[in-house]
Amino acid sequence: MLLRYRFAVLLASGLCACCATAQPSDVAITTQQAALSLIPLPAKLVQQQGSFRISSATPVLAKGEAAETVAHQFVDYLHRSRSLDLVVSADPKPQAIEFAIKADIAASPEGYALEVTPQLIRVTAADSRGLFYGAVTLWQLATLNDSKSIQVPAVRIQDAPRFGWRGLMLDSARHFQSVDQVKALIDAMALHKLNTFHWHLTDDQGWRVEIKRYPKLTGTGGCRIPAGDGGRDPQTDAPVPYCGFYTQEQIRDVVRYAAERHITIVPEIDVPGHAQAAVAAYPELGVTGKHIHVLNEWGVNTTLFNVEENTFQFLENVLAELIELFPGTYVHVGGDEAVKDQWKASARVQERMRELGAKDEMAMQSHLIKRLEKFLVAHHRRLIGWDEILEGGLPAEATVMSWRGIEGGLEAANQGHDVVMSPSSELYLDYLQTDSPNEPPGRPATIPLKQVYAFEPIPAALAADKRAHILGLQANTWTEHMRSYARVQHAIFPRIAAVAETGWTPAQNKDWPGFVARLPTQLQRYRALGIGYAQTPFEVRSTLSAERKGRMVQVALSNSLDYDDMRYTLDGSVPGPTSTAYAGPFSLPLPARLRAAVFADGQALADAPLQRIDATTLLTRTNAALAMCTGALMLRLEDDGPLQGERAIFNVDIFNPCWEWKAANLQDIASITVRAGRIPYYFQLAHDEPARKFKPAKSAHGELEIRAGCDGAVLATVPLPASPDADGFVTLKAPIEATGTSQDLCLYFTGDTRPTMWVLDQVTLQPR
Ligand code: ACM
Repeated sequence: MLLRYRFAVLLASGLCACCATAQPSDVAITTQQAALSLIPLPAKLVQQQGSFRISSATPVLAKGEAAETVAHQFVDYLHRSRSLDLVVSADPKPQAIEFAIKADIAASPEGYALEVTPQLIRVTAADSRGLFYGAVTLWQLATLNDSKSIQVPAVRIQDAPRFGWRGLMLDSARHFQSVDQVKALIDAMALHKLNTFHWHLTDDQGWRVEIKRYPKLTGTGGCRIPAGDGGRDPQTDAPVPYCGFYTQEQIRDVVRYAAERHITIVPEIDVPGHAQAAVAAYPELGVTGKHIHVLNEWGVNTTLFNVEENTFQFLENVLAELIELFPGTYVHVGGDEAVKDQWKASARVQERMRELGAKDEMAMQSHLIKRLEKFLVAHHRRLIGWDEILEGGLPAEATVMSWRGIEGGLEAANQGHDVVMSPSSELYLDYLQTDSPNEPPGRPATIPLKQVYAFEPIPAALAADKRAHILGLQANTWTEHMRSYARVQHAIFPRIAAVAETGWTPAQNKDWPGFVARLPTQLQRYRALGIGYAQTPFEVRSTLSAERKGRMVQVALSNSLDYDDMRYTLDGSVPGPTSTAYAGPFSLPLPARLRAAVFADGQALADAPLQRIDATTLLTRTNAALAMCTGALMLRLEDDGPLQGERAIFNVDIFNPCWEWKAANLQDIASITVRAGRIPYYFQLAHDEPARKFKPAKSAHGELEIRAGCDGAVLATVPLPASPDADGFVTLKAPIEATGTSQDLCLYFTGDTRPTMWVLDQVTLQPR
């Protein structure tokens, strides 16, 4: 298994051994990492001879409350993943696992030492944080496989993280997660040695944290009516609200749960934009004074808080309750995407800006952020905000979270401010991770695992004396497109493993082939703990080619991480470790049934969905197999109905909904059938809205048009109905006159169809 990666690892270490700068410990790590499968990789690791066998009789020793707590956590993780129940005691015994706090050892913050010999296991650290991370490493060594006997390989590890901020953000505003789901995520973070959970609790689409002084924030701001069919009862047509918030008691419970796992929670209250849920609850906080609803659209919305003294006091009162709930140092105040149209248009805001001496709207925002910082500093807290808080000038002690690339972070660090790097281009987990048709909804531009892994938080352009300002990195999980916790997990796992390694492991020890080789064991741990990791990076993709009207199809298999053990069946059965191994492209008679999976250590890494291949499927392109004509803003969007159950998913460029079948073979084709669906047009695009173009309609409801290339001749025009059929789709058929074996087909719908939009589901060519 995994020969290609094992070979690459050995080759890399062979090269390293000859180069003058190599450190002996690095070489040891590189050669052994696949076998030990630790994620994140430790700073220093030396493998020894032999192993320690853990059985149900193995004693676990811990003296003192802190060590006992960690020992029990280790026992619990082992119980959950290996069904083994060990007993913790304080009496010295032979052949034991020992956890000990040694306050006098010179250790880095969060650091630990782990020694495994055939006779003992000893985890030591200067405090409970380090000891916990030592326990996590030991748990990983005890979960290298799922065989009955647990043999922990003998090692000496001396470890400490590279960065102090190893974060994950969860947006609970756009979609809400239960307390148990949030806890499950925090638990999984701890097993990756992440230490900061940034909780995005307020946005235009929902206010999710109970504030006792302002009950309407959650009473009104905690619910929205989703757009389209998703917000209406199909029987009665009555509105079906989407609601959720965390009570203060629940928040305290989550904070406690996180603290037990050495995770600090950074709460975010977003100002002055992303404010619509708050303004819907208390219209006097808004600029226009109008009663508005909690937003049920995505994008950048223009509702801002006003800048009255009462509103500043409201925000301070909210922060006052928040800092009672969250004991961590940092409070996040947002600051992102606050389009200033409302402030510009309001005579009262302009007057207030003159009163406050703010020369423009940027300065006004800066004034607000500085005011909040003053409040937080007076309460012994620190302010962090998105990189827009640089505009108009940063408060004295603010920390910047750089999301629009790393430039904001670079600038802030150069100004002497602390920075957390979370660039959308590398660390936004709502971006798709592969181009598989099985990706759930999400944002465009794939950010595959390799790209996440390659991210380096310290910009090369940053001077050496400023580098300590980079506190670390954080991945962000925006949930517009994640209606379920399964989708949240899909977005996060396994990409968070890559983030964890960048945050923890010394840069010179990072190694992509080694990481890929260690990943199957990490997936095995995910499965043992019930973590629903993304299947798409591990699924087998097939490339099919066939002669027109031929009886055979050529099949080539691949997977996005280039694992070399792919196995398949042709009888519809689930492939197993002894199924036919893929050795190169092969031919099949039509019709065929193909199921394939990647294997490592006898385990399939992902499901193997059944693929039926026949004359019709070869002439069909589903939505995900088509290109976008111009690709200005491609989104992968979900249908708005049904209220319960599976919904269709479409790739669509909302600026130019036009799909392209590149190099279609039209030889012997008489007609073309298009299946189209319809979804809500539920976007706020602020200043980008005029870029959204609608092609003129020729008939009452517009038409489907098909062109030979996007600037080419019209091949077919079919009028659209007023609405789709009861199942939400419509099937349109047109004769087609073109010939040729390589014709780009562009397909689009004419007319301004807002508040809905037609989307292409699939296209099939019909032979003569
Ligand atoms: C952001 O993605 N608006 C911080």
